[in-house]
Amino acid sequence: MNIGIIGFGTVGSGAYEIAKAATDINVKRILARHGREGYENLDDIITHNIEDLIEDKEIDLVVEAIGGIEPARTYVLACLNAGKHVVTPNKNLISAYFEELTETASRNGVELRFTSTSGGGIPWLFNLMRTKRCDKITQVRGIVNGTCNYILDSMYDKGADFAEMLKIAQDLGYAEADPSSDIEGTDTLRKTVISANIAFDALLKEEDIYCYGIDTIEARDIAYLKEKGYTCKLLMNAKLTDAGIKAWVEPVACPLTSLEANVKANNNLITLVGESIGTQSFYGQGAGRLPTGESVVQDVIDIRDGIKMEYSEKNSKKYAACSCDEVQKYYIRHNKMSEDIMSFIEKYEEKEGVFYCISKPISVARMHDMGRHFKEEGKPMFFASIRE
Ligand SMILES: NC(=O)c1ccc[n+]([C@@H]2O[C@H](COP(=O)([O-])OP(=O)(O)OC[C@H]3O[C@@H](n4cnc5c(N)ncnc54)[C@H](OP(=O)(O)O)[C@@H]3O)[C@@H](O)[C@H]2O)c1
Repeated sequence: MNIGIIGFGTVGSGAYEIAKAATDINVKRILARHGREGYENLDDIITHNIEDLIEDKEIDLVVEAIGGIEPARTYVLACLNAGKHVVTPNKNLISAYFEELTETASRNGVELRFTSTSGGGIPWLFNLMRTKRCDKITQVRGIVNGTCNYILDSMYDKGADFAEMLKIAQDLGYAEADPSSDIEGTDTLRKTVISANIAFDALLKEEDIYCYGIDTIEARDIAYLKEKGYTCKLLMNAKLTDAGIKAWVEPVACPLTSLEANVKANNNLITLVGESIGTQSFYGQGAGRLPTGESVVQDVIDIRDGIKMEYSEKNSKKYAACSCDEVQKYYIRHNKMSEDIMSFIEKYEEKEGVFYCISKPISVARMHDMGRHFKEEGKPMFFASIRE
C-alpha cells in the first residue's frame, strides 16, 4: 500500500519510522513545511503542495499529523472526497468535527480511523469499537492525560507544589510551553467526546460536557486527601443511562486501593464497562513519538487488510446531547465560606483561614457551575469528587 503523510513532526516521523522498519507500507509522499534534521534522504518525496498527495492516484491512504483544526480539516476532507482513506492522531479535529468527518468518509466509501487520538499508543478506541460489535457499552472512564497524571503523581509522592511539578513536566517534554489544554482539562474533554461518541454511537459536542481541570490544585489538597486515604486523578467519565448520556471531566479523589490511584508517572489507564464483558481496563503510554506512531501504523495496516470498524450512527439522534445531573460527594477547598457553599456542606475543617469541606451529594452541574463562578471572580477553589 502507498501512503502519504501530512506533517512530519513528532507523530508523522514516528509513524514513518515504524512503517519503514516493520511493514511493507510505502510512504510515497510527505507534505512538510521544511525538511527534518536527520531525514535529508527524504528530500525526493517531500513536497510543500497538498495537491501532490490528493492528485496522486497511487496513494490509497493519507496520515494527517499536523494537528489543530485548519488546514487539517480542509486537507482531511479533500483526501476523503478524493477517495482516500485517512488515519489521524488529531484529537482536536476529530472531537470538533466528528459528525462531518465520519459522514464524509462514509459517503465516499472510505475509512477514517483515529485510534491514537485517545490513549496515544494504547489500542483503546480499537478495542472499544471491537467490544461494541457484540456488547452494549454502559460506561467509559479513565486517566487519558499523561501530563496531568505525571504532575498529580509527583505531587503525591514528593509533596511538591503544582507550579514546581508543571515546570518539571515541561522540562521533561511531557507538558507543552502552553500547558493550558492539559491542565484545564480540555485535552481530556476532547478524548471524552471521542470515546463517548464511539462507545454510545453518539454525537456529543465539546460544549455539552462539564469540565474542570487541575490548574487550581495545591500541595495542601494532595496532603489533605492523602491523610484520608485518597490520591487525586483527573478523570474522563461517560455513562449511558436510561435518561441518555452523562459525561464530564473533573479531578477525582480515588481510594489508594483503586487501579486509578496506582497509575504512575505519565501513564494512562482507560476503562470500559460492557453489559456482557464487564469491566476491562487498558494501561500504557498515552503519548510519545513511537507509541503514537505505532498506533497510527496499526490503523493503516487494519485498513489495508480490510478490517472494518464502522462508526454507527443508528443511535446518534437519541444521544445527541448529554446531561450532568450525576450526584456525588465532593472534597472542596476554598478560602471563603459563602451561604451557598454552606447549604450543601456535610462537614468542614478550618485551618489557617482555609476551609476543607466534604459536601453532601450534589450534581456535577452544580459543583462545576460554582467552581467556574469562583474562577471567573478571581477566587478559584479546588474540588474533587470522592470515589467510594
Ligand atoms: N506527540 C504525541 O505524543 C501525540 C500523541 C497523540 C496525539 N498527538 C496528536 O498528533 C498531532 C501531531 O502532533 P505532534 O506532536 O506530532 O506535533 P508536532 O511535533 O508539532 O508536528 C506537527 C508537524 O506538522 C507540521 N505542520 C504544521 N502545519 C503544517 C502545514 N500547514 N503544512 C505542512 N506541515 C505542517 C509542523 O511543521 P513545523 O515544524 O513547520 O511547525 C510539524 O512538523 C496532533 O494533533 C496531536 O494532538 C500527538
